Amino acid sequence: MSTRTPIVGGNWKMNTTAETGVALARAVAAGSGGVACEVVVYPPFPYLATVGGTLAGSDVQLGAQDLYHEPNGAFTGEVSVEMLRDVGVTVVLAGHSERRHVIGETDDLVNRKVRAALAGDLMVTLCLGETLEQREAGRTTDVVLGQLRHGLAGVAEAAMGRVVLAYEPVWAIGTGVTATPDDAETAHRAIRGALADLYNPQVAAATRIQYGGSVKPGNAAALAAGPNVDGFLVGGASLVPDDFLAITRMATAPDPAADRQPEARNA
Ligand code: 13P
Repeated sequence: MSTRTPIVGGNWKMNTTAETGVALARAVAAGSGGVACEVVVYPPFPYLATVGGTLAGSDVQLGAQDLYHEPNGAFTGEVSVEMLRDVGVTVVLAGHSERRHVIGETDDLVNRKVRAALAGDLMVTLCLGETLEQREAGRTTDVVLGQLRHGLAGVAEAAMGRVVLAYEPVWAIGTGVTATPDDAETAHRAIRGALADLYNPQVAAATRIQYGGSVKPGNAAALAAGPNVDGFLVGGASLVPDDFLAITRMATAPDPAADRQPEARNA
């Protein structure tokens, strides 16, 4: 039985307003007391400070969706680690597939961001995942492990306690298509094996690997049953407090039977 504490993040992406973001944060803070996993929400930049205020006194952590690796200066539109810390951010995403594939971030830039976040004492969630084309070409493992190696280049073993990985197959993000529990577990196992090679078995055993890609209350428990699945990074369903809270409970209760209850009620 793993001793890793699951971690569930709600990536709000470019959604919410100041008002709906605060309401969502309030509901998550109120409903997540007592869950046995770590919970993070990632609001858009303009709402970080306000949402952080709403979360004060709760166990929910404030996360940022991105950062820039330079400390300050002429980088129009960018946000530094120090600025994020200043508004109470403790966790930051790096290399989300939308940043890689929509905005065009390279492995090298993602690595700079990972190292900047760690140097600034933040926790960082490094996102990994293959496109459908790469998967169909049989390149899933190559691509994901390549992103892992590039993303962690220059990251010392001592910093690995503040690194979380998120496996998010691009073809499953926002599409309603989810990786099967077997797909997820296979990729997570390969990532953990690569960590043992890159670092050592202790780091591999201790590092949390979240799954992301169309996670919903209806599939979370089955996915969480994978021994190498340590929680979720949730997009769409994180905007619906009841759904997100249900997922946080399923991340720590890997009982596939729990997955079937909503259907039974509707029957
Ligand atoms: P969806 O849950 O909307 O597929 O998004 C997943 C994701 O990208 C989380 O970072």
